Order: sequence, then structure tokens, then C-alpha cells
Amino acid sequence: MRILKTTPEFKPSEVVVAEELIDSYLDDAAASGYSILIAESDSVLTGYICYGQTPLTEGTWDIYWMAVAQEKRGQGIGGTLLKKAEEKIEEAGGRLAFIETSSLPSYENTRRFYLGQGYETLVLIPDFYSPGDGKLIMQKRLRPDS
Ligand SMILES: CC(C)(COP(=O)(O)OP(=O)(O)OC[C@H]1O[C@@H](n2cnc3c(N)ncnc32)[C@H](O)[C@@H]1OP(=O)(O)O)[C@@H](O)C(=O)NCCC(=O)NCCS
Repeated sequence: MRILKTTPEFKPSEVVVAEELIDSYLDDAAASGYSILIAESDSVLTGYICYGQTPLTEGTWDIYWMAVAQEKRGQGIGGTLLKKAEEKIEEAGGRLAFIETSSLPSYENTRRFYLGQGYETLVLIPDFYSPGDGKLIMQKRLRPDS
């Protein structure tokens, strides 16, 4: 929660939803449909990623949320978390990973990060979240033949 609350990109209403996903996972991981991986440095949590299989699909997974503590960004923690999640998704038979993110200028770093991690932008829905704030749907094929 410390990380989520101090991530300037996130609105308070988004932090509430991110917390709900974490609570649901902590209550009953198997039933929640979510998986969470964390990164630690000297026993301090430095980042996390929350992902899960997209209901009613075969082998399609969503990366629902991820964040790295602001003072720890740019050190490869986010990339490591995402790669680990992708490995686990592949082990579970996943083919496609999807990420939804914002078109706002404040998410430029986030979009560059995902592009650098091999995700491509499939869709831009203008004004989706609010006027001027569009939704980007980004995808990565985890296996070339998938
Ligand atoms: C997006 C986010 C998770 C990335 O995490 P991160 O730990 O900063 O990511 P990495 O360090 O792996 O990669 C970020 C950049 O640092 C570079 N980098 C990687 N290892 C590095 C290292 N050891 N030293 C310096 N730079 C490094 C990467 O090349 C990458 O460069 P890019 O900006 O050209 O893509 C993080 O910035 C974040 O929490 N953002 C706010 C929340 C958010 O937008 N979450 C996603 C919601 S959809």
C-alpha cells in the first residue's frame, strides 16, 4: 500500500481497486483468480505485479497491476517482475499476455517500459477513462507460434 499510495501516476480511486485485488488474493489465492509476485530488497518490499488468467479464454492472461517504488525505478525490478510473471504464465499454458494502460503523458515512461519488454499496442480507445485519457491495450505473444 505504501508503494501504491506514493505512485504519482495512480489516482486514489485506482489505488482502492488495486487494494481490492490484493485483498482478494490474500483471502483466498486459488479462488481469487489472481497471482501476485513481489520484489524485495533487504527485506523491504520494492515492487509487485498482479496477474491472472482472463476468464472465458484459452491461454490468455491479463497483467492487472504492477508498481515499483518510485526511488527504485530504473534498476530492472519491473522488468524482472514482468519476466517472472510471463514465465509463470507460460508454465501454466498461457499464450498471450495483455496489459491495459493509459494514454496520458504521465504514463509515457510506463508505455516505453512495456514496449521495451516486447509488448505491442493493439488498440487505442480515445477518451476511455476520461476526456483526454484513452485506454491502450498492449499485447505480447509469449510463444512465437501462439
Ligand atoms: C512501469 C514500472 C513498473 C517499471 O518498473 P522499473 O523497475 O522502473 O522498470 P525497469 O527498471 O525494469 O525498466 C525501466 C527502465 O530502466 C532501464 N533499466 C533496466 N535496468 C536498469 C538498471 N539496472 N539501471 C538503470 N536502468 C535500468 C530499462 O532499460 C528501462 O528503460 P526504458 O525507460 O527505456 O524502458 C515502474 O516505472 C512503475 O511502477 N511505474 C508507475 C506505475 C505504473 O505505471 N504501473 C503500470 C500500470 S499499467
